[in-house]
Amino acid sequence: MESKEPSSPITQKDVYCKDFDSDSDSELVAFLGPRPVGQSRRILLWPIIANIVVLLISSSLFATASLRYRQALHLEATTEPLHTQEYAPAVESVGQRYSWQYLGEFGQPSPWRGQPSAEVDEAWNKITRTGAISVTQQDLERLGKLHNSSVMLPIESGGGYMASLEAAHQMHCLDMLRKFSFRDYYADKVAVFSDPFKLRTHMDHCIEMLRQVIMCSADLHIITYDWVDHVDYPWPDFSINRQCRNWDHMIDWIQQRKALTSAPDGILTRPDGAATRSVEPVEYIHSGSP
Ligand SMILES: *[C@@H]1O[C@H](CO)[C@@H](O)[C@H](O)[C@H]1NC(C)=O
Repeated sequence: MESKEPSSPITQKDVYCKDFDSDSDSELVAFLGPRPVGQSRRILLWPIIANIVVLLISSSLFATASLRYRQALHLEATTEPLHTQEYAPAVESVGQRYSWQYLGEFGQPSPWRGQPSAEVDEAWNKITRTGAISVTQQDLERLGKLHNSSVMLPIESGGGYMASLEAAHQMHCLDMLRKFSFRDYYADKVAVFSDPFKLRTHMDHCIEMLRQVIMCSADLHIITYDWVDHVDYPWPDFSINRQCRNWDHMIDWIQQRKALTSAPDGILTRPDGAATRSVEPVEYIHSGSP
């Protein structure tokens, strides 16, 4: 089926998640379908008049309701402080949500799951590929994040201020924790694993960040329970129906907007005399690339 709309929100739908909206087209056809054959063609006037009256009443109710709805949306948009809002260009491009269902079975196979291998690493690399993007001075001002220490991108790289997406950082943290859970395999593959202090600091940082992500979103969907074979206690059904963003699209968006830097490895070096802000405690900071 050729379509401009993505048929697979998030990524690798066949193995990762189940798209439960896939037959909505056929439901629509059934709903709007032609009148069954053999139906009476005799025209009566009173049902037509009654229908027109009902139509007028319902359309005026609908107009009122949709006006209220728009006002409510507008109210929400203007009362959410600018400094807490998601980045508008990203929301406009890849903020759309799609019907989705978690694959929540306990032993659910997944390309991202299980003993590490080249294949598992490749699956994770695809969803953790990130990079810096360029945002404007006004973007930083709105967030209350414009400082004299803000990192500017070189003019030959397009200028603007350096930024990256929070979702990408969250996934990076999850991947680091995954690698830590298989640390024998990754001991000599990930630079930070060779220094116990840096490793501990990174892992504690990731746990702290993901704790705040989970507490901030305080997901209010419900998990339901079933009786299942071979188990005499209530068994949770983690396959929750959701509205999800498309992760692949977000990664593509980052890649397309990736700020090119002229620096080696694409990592900037602090220029001489740059204004700095202090970060404490200093022993947690390691030099070199992250
Ligand atoms: C940068 O701003 C801070 C406070 O916002 C100030 O204390 C510092 O002197 C400034 N540094 C430079 C180099 O302008």
